[in-house]
Order: sequence, then C-alpha cells, then structure tokens
Amino acid sequence: MEQNNSIIQFLLNEELRTIDFRKEKDLSPTTTVLNYVRDFAHYKGVKEGCAEGDCGACTLVIAELGDDNELHYKTITSCIVFLPYLNGKQLFTVEYLGEKENGETQLHPVQEALVKTNGSQCGYCTPGFVMSLFNLYKTIDNPNQEEVEQALSGNLCRCTGYKSILDAAYLFRDLPKKDKFSVLKEKDTRELQQIAANSADVFIERENEAYYQPKTLKSALAYKNKYPDSVLLGGASDLALLKTKKHQTLPHLLDLSHIKELQSINKYEDYWEIGAGVSIEQLRIAFGNYFPAFKAMLDVFGSQQIRNLATLGGNLGSGSPIGDTLPVLMAHQAELIIESQGERRAEKLEDYLLGYRKTSLTPNEIITKIRLPFDESEIIWSEKVSKRRDLDISTVSAGFSLKLTKDKKVQRIILAYGGMAAITNRAYQTEEFLLGKTWTKPVIEEAMEILKEEFTPLSDARAEAEGRKILAKNLLMKFYLETINLLGF
Ligand SMILES: Cc1cc2nc3c(=O)[nH]c(=O)nc-3n(C[C@H](O)[C@H](O)[C@H](O)COP(=O)(O)OP(=O)(O)OC[C@H]3O[C@@H](n4cnc5c(N)ncnc54)[C@H](O)[C@@H]3O)c2cc1C
Ligand code: FES
Ligand code: FES
Repeated sequence: MEQNNSIIQFLLNEELRTIDFRKEKDLSPTTTVLNYVRDFAHYKGVKEGCAEGDCGACTLVIAELGDDNELHYKTITSCIVFLPYLNGKQLFTVEYLGEKENGETQLHPVQEALVKTNGSQCGYCTPGFVMSLFNLYKTIDNPNQEEVEQALSGNLCRCTGYKSILDAAYLFRDLPKKDKFSVLKEKDTRELQQIAANSADVFIERENEAYYQPKTLKSALAYKNKYPDSVLLGGASDLALLKTKKHQTLPHLLDLSHIKELQSINKYEDYWEIGAGVSIEQLRIAFGNYFPAFKAMLDVFGSQQIRNLATLGGNLGSGSPIGDTLPVLMAHQAELIIESQGERRAEKLEDYLLGYRKTSLTPNEIITKIRLPFDESEIIWSEKVSKRRDLDISTVSAGFSLKLTKDKKVQRIILAYGGMAAITNRAYQTEEFLLGKTWTKPVIEEAMEILKEEFTPLSDARAEAEGRKILAKNLLMKFYLETINLLGF
C-alpha cells in the first residue's frame, strides 16, 4: 500500500499542473473541479448553475489515455467531480478551444456554428453547450439525431430555446474533423503517458480527512480491510452531492476510479462480466447490439455527462429503490461478485438488497464485478416512467423477462420493479400466478389485479401511491402487447 504520495498531475489545456495536497492547504481531495478551475486556475468561462449535475452549465471535457494509447474524450459535470479524479487526465476549458491567429481569436468550428445559428442569448449556459458540442465534434463523425440529442441531453438553456442550438450541431457535423487538437494529439498523448509512468497511488491525510486513490484492486481491498470505515467512491455522482448540496464532510474516501481492473467488460460463452467501475455510458455503448432492453434503460439514465461519471458499481452501491439499472439487472438474473481481502463471494441481486438503502455488503467488502447471464430464448424488456425523458429520476421502473414453452405457456417470468417499495423488488405473487399459464390477454388482465395489490408504494412528489399501482399494472399490459408483437402471436 503506497501511502507517501500526495501528488496528482494532469494537463489543464496544454499546461502540466502538479498539485501537492501536503502543500496546497486551500485545496482538498473534495474540492470540486469546477471550483478549482474557476477559483484557483482562474478560468471563469465555466459556470455554476445548480451544483448537482442537473443543468450542464459546468460542463468541461476530459481526455483520457485508453489501453489503445489513444485519447478518449468525454464530458463531465465539473460541479460534482472531485479534483483527484483528474490525476493522469487532460482537462479542456472553453477558453482554450479557439486559436489566436495574427493577434485575432479564431473560434473553434463548434463555436462558429453556435454564432451562425444564434444559439446564445444571455450566454450563461453557452460555455457548457460549447463543451458538449466540442465533445460531440471530437467523438462522433456525422452524428445522427439521436447522437446529437444524447450529446446535449445534460445541458439546459432558459432563454435561447433548443432549436438553434441543435441546428448548430447539424451545421458542423459534416465539416472535416481537423482542429488544433488533432495537431496536438501526439504531444498530449506522450505527456499523459509520461504522467502515467510516473504516477503512484495517491494518499492524502489532513486533520479531518483522509483520501486514498489506489491503482490496483489488491491495494484497494487491503485498504478497505485496514480501514473499514472508509467510504468507497466510484464516479461520485451520488456522493459528491452530499458535499455540494448538503454541505457534509466526507472524512474518509477510498476512490476506486483509477483501478483499471474494475473498468473492463468481458464476454464469455454464456455470460458477460462487467467491472464495477465501468461507467454507465461505456456500458450503454457496449450493450447496443447485445442487450437492447438494458441499453434502452441506459439511454434515459441521467445525461451523457452523468453517465460518463456514474459507475455500475455505484448504482448498486447506493442501493437506491429507484436505481435504474437494478430492475433490468434483476430481469437478467444478475449476480454480484463481492470481494474482501482474500475472499470473494457471488450473490444474486435479490439477496444483496436487504432494505431501504441497506445491502448485504459488509464494511470491508467491495463490489468488483457484475455477472450477466444471457439466454437467447428469453425476452427481456425494460421501461422507465419519469416526468421528463432526459435527466429525471424514475417514478416507476420495470425490468421483465419471459421464457415461454412451445405451446405458449409461461416457463419462467421475472417482473422486477423500481419505485414500488423500499427496495427494487420482484412481484413474486404475480409471477407465481403466471407460471404455467398460457400467455394470453385474459390471463394478463387477471395478473394485473394481483399485481395491483402486491405492492404498497409511497406517495411522493413524483406520484401518488395509487398512481404507482396503476403504472405497475399497466406496464405489465404494455409488456404483454410488445411480446405478442415480437413473437408474432
Ligand atoms: C444529475 C443526476 C442524474 C442522475 N440520474 C440518474 C438516473 O437517471 N438513474 C439512476 O439510477 N441514477 C441517477 N443518478 C444517480 C447516480 O448517478 C447513480 O446512482 C450512479 O450510478 C452512482 O454511481 P457513482 O459511481 O457515481 O457512485 P458514487 O457516488 O461514487 O457512489 C454511490 C454509492 O455507491 C458506493 N459504491 C461505489 N462504488 C462501489 C463499489 N464498487 N462497491 C460497493 N459500493 C460502491 C459508494 O460508497 C456510495 O455509497 C443521477 C445523479 C445525478 C447527480
Ligand atoms: S452546475 Fe449544474 S450541472 Fe454543474
Ligand atoms: S442563453 Fe441564456 S440560459 Fe441559455
């Protein structure tokens, strides 16, 4: 366990920044990237709107060195990212996109496009939109409508309206992708490789806080064993809000975000294994052709900025009854691989969830992988009901799976719901009623009556309890109608 290094290094635009937390007393491991960039690096283009990941005014772009030794760009909501996350990465600010030529600033093509389409009025949201558009420009050639909308799903504008901003994205999408960043790519890659070669585990200890950022799972497990009170940090998209909104301190963090072993997705003969540190966006892209129902759920998970940060392990770790991956993971009969130093266990998701935000995880354990079996003879389906399509949390969510015999009898069924109880839970009584029955509309209608009484959900700002019950049973009918379409009954 390395515990002597309190230094992080990253590129801020083209400049190498070294922060030694032992010396920089005004910076802490929970200083947000937004506050660092504005107050310490004095780049004021980036704005704070909500400080909770919801508005996109603070969007910045990061380039990370992949295993392929290429730079991979992504957007982040910098208001909920802690500074040590930048270790080994390159951060771009809006001030750096343009170029100076003969004393004059030449705008970047995405800025040029926003000007042409009048995509800005008061301008408060504009730096965030520019960064999201810049990321789109760098990552997708000729994006289609869905890709453009996904890229902008995390940015809100109160005055311009979205049409002219979307028009800007279509305006630059056909342009040749040559900007100053293409020219600097080789140099930046070399510098990030050098930072990576010199970097060690980071340990920061202050009077009232400790923070550890290991590079290997082995070190993380050893640390968790020694300090079971340390709190695991994935992408911080839940935890950072404790600081930015609730003004709590996070006295002891074990940051898993730099452990490569937790970030891979592997396909085996009859199951997939997903590292707990895999981001929701990484998963959404990887699952496109394999798990359409899972992908559909991930398409409406937060925004692209949030999905770039949020990890699958964090979604499970928070144990929230409205965690969006949980119902569909249950439908897939997912198993969690949970490790402590020298021990490893596999547990079904149903057994892992014990109560409201209560799980079977003991203080020295970490979720390291999620195992997803696949069976092509099964139909898997998911749906998220929320007030808004993008950037909203679920009112009710569903993950269903169905296997029928040749004579259309229910051989296996899983009906998992989020938002209906203190935990994501299956409608066991309804499942039992359906088992062995023929998959027909009258049978489903009978099942809907059982389902309506099976849960006692809460009333809250999102829906009344009665409304949730109606939603749950109607989701079953929707599933039925979609299956008969799919199977051609
Ligand atoms: C604006 C916004 C929109 C959001 N939208 C959605 C949404 O649509 N759907 C949704 O489900 N969620 C949403 N969230 C919540 C959040 O993004 C997710 O729960 C996310 O998956 C958390 O992952 P993380 O890596 O950021 O977790 P963190 O914040 O790092 O951690 C969350 C919890 O998990 C624990 N943890 C982290 N990693 C592990 C691990 N490997 N093993 C065990 N425990 C671990 C942590 O200790 C903590 O208790 C949203 C959040 C924001 C801010
Ligand atoms: S300030 Fe609103 S998302 Fe960061
Ligand atoms: S231009 Fe004013 S908020 Fe978008």
